[in-house]
Amino acid sequence: MNTLPFFPSPKQLGWLKAAIFVLALLPFVRMVWLTAAGQLVEPLEFITRGTGDWTLYFLCITLAVTPLRRLSKWNWLIRLRRMLGLFVFFYAALHFTTFLWFDHFFDVAEMWADVLKRPFITVGFIAFVPLIALAATSSNAMVRRLGGKRWQYLHRLVYVIAPLAILHFWWMKAGKHNFAQPILFGLIVALLLGIRVYWRYVKSTAGKPA
Ligand code: HEM
Repeated sequence: MNTLPFFPSPKQLGWLKAAIFVLALLPFVRMVWLTAAGQLVEPLEFITRGTGDWTLYFLCITLAVTPLRRLSKWNWLIRLRRMLGLFVFFYAALHFTTFLWFDHFFDVAEMWADVLKRPFITVGFIAFVPLIALAATSSNAMVRRLGGKRWQYLHRLVYVIAPLAILHFWWMKAGKHNFAQPILFGLIVALLLGIRVYWRYVKSTAGKPA
């Protein structure tokens, strides 16, 4: 397959990373700005939903890095993955914090009861917990400490997190009989995970007699 030759220098990659960092913060800045300016009719709902949406968008963007890298042969894309993954955690942590703050005023016992009472929130919470482990082990020092293989196994938790995130979204929207977006994101996540499973299958069967 023909690919576009694009190999940024270390300096260009540094600028690209800085630009992505600023762009990734824009949704957060916009949420804070609109809330502070008093321009929102339902600020709490806007922030809870906005942070949930951006968690899902960054999850999809992060999952797209490896397939894009393999298909384009732009190996440098991998250098962006950690930052993008940390933005998944950033927006998920904000999403959780807004829930704990605005819905329960930091009453952890009351929040916990709500998490257990509403299944879509239970699922969101179960998706969030392993995300903490992935963020906590994202540094080079942690890769060295765990060892490459163990680190890779741990980070395969994303195969659990992503479907749970879709289920959380689906369940929430099901209450409103609004399935268009969960179906769209479900298909995107299925494609991004499915292509990895397919490549692993091809690799494991390569060279075996038919
Ligand atoms: C990987 C983790 C998570 C993802 C990807 C995620 C994603 C989402 C998305 C996309 C929405 C819908 C936004 C919309 O309507 O446009 C949402 C709503 C919501 N999520 Fe999450 N979420 C996650 C974790 C959590 C956690 C940990 C909690 C709380 C314990 C939570 C509580 C909620 C609540 C309360 C809503 C809003 C429901 C409403 O406004 O009626 N989520 N989430």
